[in-house]
Amino acid sequence: MNILILGGGGREHALAWAVKQNPKCDRLIVAPGNAGIAQIAWCAALDILDGAAVVEFCNENTVEMVIIGPEAPLAAGVADAVRAAGILCFGPSAGAAQLEASKAFTKEICDAAGAPTAAWARFTEAEAAKDYIKAQGAPIVVKADGLAAGKGVVVAETEDQALAAIDDMFGGAFGAAGAEVVIEEFMAGEEASFFVLCDGQDALAIGTAQDHKRIGEGDTGPNTGGMGAYSPAPILTEALQEQVMEQIIRPTLAEMARQGMPYSGVLYAGLMIENGQARLVEYNVRFGDPECQALMLRLGAQAFDAIHACAEGRLSEARIDWADDHAMTVVLAAEGYPGSYEKGSVIGGLEDLPEDSCHMMFHAGTTELDGKITASGGRVLNATARGTDLAQARERAYGLVSGVNWPEGIHRRDIGWRALK
Ligand code: AMP
Ligand code: GLY
Repeated sequence: MNILILGGGGREHALAWAVKQNPKCDRLIVAPGNAGIAQIAWCAALDILDGAAVVEFCNENTVEMVIIGPEAPLAAGVADAVRAAGILCFGPSAGAAQLEASKAFTKEICDAAGAPTAAWARFTEAEAAKDYIKAQGAPIVVKADGLAAGKGVVVAETEDQALAAIDDMFGGAFGAAGAEVVIEEFMAGEEASFFVLCDGQDALAIGTAQDHKRIGEGDTGPNTGGMGAYSPAPILTEALQEQVMEQIIRPTLAEMARQGMPYSGVLYAGLMIENGQARLVEYNVRFGDPECQALMLRLGAQAFDAIHACAEGRLSEARIDWADDHAMTVVLAAEGYPGSYEKGSVIGGLEDLPEDSCHMMFHAGTTELDGKITASGGRVLNATARGTDLAQARERAYGLVSGVNWPEGIHRRDIGWRALK
């Protein structure tokens, strides 16, 4: 098959790496891709938010299947356009992508499905929102309803912080995403991520992970897109995964189908676990980045078999052969990230790194200039490794990190600290 992947981050490099190993893949194209992806696929320039342009590109290049990485093209309806053109697509419709694009939509679905989640209320006016906060007290969580690049959530420890967040959001700090605000009960516990493929009917669990959202060691400092992850997440035991499937995932899928928006693609459930019970924090309608890098190294070529079965609506036939393995990915970011950072610094040492089924340096924000790999984004490289236990995966991942010669780069040295404690 000729396959097109949309996106250009570490997640898409990991997806491309897994797809490329599967014998079903003839030609692999990634748009826009990055310098690492360019070593295994054709990187095409294409407006990935424009469904008509994507379809035209597919027709011109005999693309038979499209895999959509990030949320923005999904929310923009690119999957709908691709399917309407009769091309196989992995990724939910714009209607189903509301599970990530609107927090209030997700909460309504959870309520209708009876899925356990935080108590909540929605507001379009500051005064009513503030009255609610005063009545509930702190800690409390304030969220802009729409997509805000992971920045639209304020976990307020005090009532004053929550009231200030209301002023910010209705004051336009998040643009249209903040025109409506969701206020939630604060949930204590440990967070973990659960990834499930869904084809509208069936669901197949494809792994658990834990991310490290803060920039600083010991989980301190500002939030980022994620500074490292590992899979599996030990807290999500088999029994707890079964509970999540029965109480959260399946009821959500049934409700989405009932409302005429059957969900097809990967569903990423962010969970809060306390006293052996899981509640939903949020859904994302795509793979996590960098969680995907750890998942793909564990799954390898079979990831594409499952994704392909999902896109064709025959997930009931798919299965995963789990090795008893663990994977970790450590993000190398540009100094200054998640604030402002320089672009263009040269990264050395990459060509000498091991590359096999246990070691992969996935690229995120990289560009090749005059034959050299340069940094062109905030998160730049993902040192990803696999082992028989997490400690071995960690040793191998940091071994990759130490082989990189990039003085302008930073990374956390403590990825996995909770699980290895
Ligand atoms: P979200 O974008 O909804 O995932 O929120 C981002 C982060 O905020 C989550 O990963 C949690 O760490 C935190 N968070 C969101 N909602 C809650 C909640 N109701 N209780 C506690 N923490 C939350
Ligand atoms: N790593 C978190 C996310 O992809 O949303």
